[in-house]
Amino acid sequence: MRPWQAGAVWGEVGAVALPRDLDLFALEGALWVASRPVGVPAYDFAFERFFACRRPYQRPTEVTAVGRLGAPEDYPATWAALAATGLRLVNDPAAHERASELPAWYPRIQALTPRSRWYEAPPSADEVEAAFGWPVFVKGARQTARHAAGLAIARDKPAYEALRASYLADPILTWQACVIREYVPLVPVGPGTPGKVPASFEFRTFWWRGALVGAGRYWLDVPEYRWSDAEARAALAVGAAAAARVDVPFLVVDLALTAAGRWVVIECNDGQEAAYAGVSAVALWRAILDHEAAAL
Ligand SMILES: Nc1ncnc2c1ncn2[C@@H]1O[C@H](COP(=O)(O)OP(=O)(O)O)[C@@H](O)[C@H]1O
Ligand SMILES: [Mg+2]
Repeated sequence: MRPWQAGAVWGEVGAVALPRDLDLFALEGALWVASRPVGVPAYDFAFERFFACRRPYQRPTEVTAVGRLGAPEDYPATWAALAATGLRLVNDPAAHERASELPAWYPRIQALTPRSRWYEAPPSADEVEAAFGWPVFVKGARQTARHAAGLAIARDKPAYEALRASYLADPILTWQACVIREYVPLVPVGPGTPGKVPASFEFRTFWWRGALVGAGRYWLDVPEYRWSDAEARAALAVGAAAAARVDVPFLVVDLALTAAGRWVVIECNDGQEAAYAGVSAVALWRAILDHEAAAL
């Protein structure tokens, strides 16, 4: 139920309380947001500086909200705990998984993204060689180890064997299912940061209920790069197809241009957990509000 709708059921005073550090407000009276700053500038956004944020004394007993709470360790548990207070995060646990875990989104967009396989733990070098050859891109089902190149790119068998040992010892990677991907050369954009995966011509896009609401560059530690109108059209056609197939209320799709001139999906993410990267947060929330207004 939208906050301004007549007939919204308003809670009793003393209805189940939300966690104290969670700020729940109606953005421009039109969209509930549940926010908790995490201390990361690329993620946090000072909503109050740009939008009217109303915090009704008595909130409706049931609301659907966009969460900007960081990345809970156990999303289904967090979702259920908030739902028990009457607050439903816009991506339910199944949608969150489709957005966040490669094994959940990959089957839906296989033709749009580098060929991938996943394993409970990093497979042997022989298995990787048989399935992919070299080089390969390695990551957890959810993420890399903060883009560390030595933990993501293996150019040959000895390099993979070293990577595999480091993977098993790495606190970010070892608990994740292991994903091996075909290594696809991408169009480079400047030197990037030493020790990190090379920066490429890559863009982050946000999709709200299937509609594009934000796009901007993915890499910020390189000189600014932009796409032409023609490049944007080609990239966004791939993004729109991916968004439709992954089918998540608030979704992020990262798109990169390959050296062969094709736009591919690098990964999907939950829009609630994603950093803004080069996307203007003000424009993003404005576009979501406009979309909600048009849907009335
Ligand atoms: N299959 C691949 N081939 C070549 N480069 C890749 C491949 N997958 C990812 N990359 C590069 O590595 C970067 C990090 O990978 P990504 O899957 O986005 O990990 P994370 O979830 O940690 O951000 C991407 O932004 C892209 O530039
Ligand atoms: Mg990424």
